[in-house]
Amino acid sequence: VSAEAATSRFAFTPIPIATDATVHVPEGYTWQVLARWGDPLFSDAGEFDHETGGDVASSARTFGENTDGMELFVVGGRQVIAVNHEYVNPKLNLPKNDGGTPASAEDVRKLQNLQGVTVMEVAEGEDGWHIVVDSPLNRRIDHNTQMRLSGPAAGHDLLKTEADPTGTASLGTFNNCGAGRTPWGTYLTCEENFNGYFGSTDEAFALPEHYKRYGIGAKSVYSYEKFDARFDVSKNPNEPHRAGYIVEIDPSDPASVPVKRTALGRFKHENAALTLARDGRVVVYMGDDERGEFLYRFVSSGLYTPGADTSGLLDEGTLSVARFADDGKGEWVALTPEATSMSAAEIAVFTRVAASKVGATTMDRPEWVAVNPVAVEAYCALTNNTRRGVKPNAGGDETPVGGPNPRAENQYGQIVRWYPDDDDHAADSFAWDLFVMAGNPAVHQDAYGGSDNVNEGNMFNSPDGMMFDTTGLLWIQTDGEDSNEGDFAGQGNNQMLAGDPVTGRIERFLTAPVGSEVTGLTWSADRRTMFVGIQHPKAPFPDGDGKLARSSVIAIKRADNAPVG
Ligand code: FEO
Ligand code: CA
Ligand code: CA
Ligand code: CA
Repeated sequence: VSAEAATSRFAFTPIPIATDATVHVPEGYTWQVLARWGDPLFSDAGEFDHETGGDVASSARTFGENTDGMELFVVGGRQVIAVNHEYVNPKLNLPKNDGGTPASAEDVRKLQNLQGVTVMEVAEGEDGWHIVVDSPLNRRIDHNTQMRLSGPAAGHDLLKTEADPTGTASLGTFNNCGAGRTPWGTYLTCEENFNGYFGSTDEAFALPEHYKRYGIGAKSVYSYEKFDARFDVSKNPNEPHRAGYIVEIDPSDPASVPVKRTALGRFKHENAALTLARDGRVVVYMGDDERGEFLYRFVSSGLYTPGADTSGLLDEGTLSVARFADDGKGEWVALTPEATSMSAAEIAVFTRVAASKVGATTMDRPEWVAVNPVAVEAYCALTNNTRRGVKPNAGGDETPVGGPNPRAENQYGQIVRWYPDDDDHAADSFAWDLFVMAGNPAVHQDAYGGSDNVNEGNMFNSPDGMMFDTTGLLWIQTDGEDSNEGDFAGQGNNQMLAGDPVTGRIERFLTAPVGSEVTGLTWSADRRTMFVGIQHPKAPFPDGDGKLARSSVIAIKRADNAPVG
């Protein structure tokens, strides 16, 4: 046994790249589909229709589109997965429409129904894992579900609309990207590119200046505004202020009203990585996925005590933003009214503006954050940024090269890691390093080819999803260029790898179908099954030639049924 093998914590033989339209896992592992877009959660939905992509009634009763972040909960002995549906693929969802463009209010409603969150009971039988159809815990949350707004911005004039003069009751959760979970058993879904749902039907409408920083324009991506006035900013200019938050959902109560936690800030939220400070305060790390935006941390005012009331923990606390120095040190800078000359409500709604005022470090698109359960350290995937130093985000800051963002042209991405001072996630200072600089050492022999732990056998680009397992291995999912050509030659389709934080070693565990990204990861209660999300695959995945491609959650097991993390 070589010294390297003796110290390896990887319980699998790494696999080569793939360029085909299916999933590959190591020898000794198997995979199956658990849930696809359009699979029934309730028996009244019927089976999926590949001609139409399903009718509007079934779209509210089935597994939604573009699976993303997810978490598994045990509720009264049942296993329940809460899972995000980030956005839609209109050409697939409205296959009869020219270019997938909605042509009626019904078309828009169908798209709205296919997004948001699914809560579904799952079970393992003789034929593997399946959705428990008609479980009393099954629920769809979509773009029209009643929500409650809480925290510093709740009830502020910026959040009031004609339909909701209280500014506390909004409808829908949008562009649900990454996820998180609280120690008290709730699910956190994170609203990312919410700007794409809003537009103006009035060409003369002057867009508020502050829309720019959040990318809200006169033309939406999904044409909602033409058929649903709530998304028409010329009629409802405050509606976009009610999106871009982290939303808390109780998976044990299908009648519960999800809560938008404005204290966690409004930006293009990727995920929410929770941990506890040494004194029991709740710490939430969050990335804002846009080039030149920031990395955030929230620390609750109150302490988490198991079994005690947790209702205010995500409403009262301090939101901070990261400032990285070139010398491997960094600090969390609090976004307070004193530091920003903004009110607490304004900080919650225009968080990006507040962070710019305190000189936060512009980052290469912060995607998922993951906190190591066996060491006091956290990681953030900085997915890529091909325009660093060239041009700021609209209304944003200059983006100089430096610190954890060392490349001017960065098409591969990197993962930054920080070690809180005093081994305390609530400390206001930290040390940082780069866990990996992704790259292609076969194409670039200089530093641009990647860090020492990247080689021709494990290379990848655009790290995005990240989760730790209970043993302290970091699982890395990619959302990048899968052309397998030029600067990406030899990298194949998107993939999932495992990284050892101690040795820095990284190995490839899974390859995804061509066209897809890998996003979302959770485990069964006994850790013998790993659930992985395959988002926006191309046909023939998973149903074969001539069928619509369907975003899917797959279940992976070891043939010997041993735990997989
Ligand atoms: Fe939805 Fe930044 O990924
Ligand atoms: Ca992502
Ligand atoms: Ca991404
Ligand atoms: Ca995605």
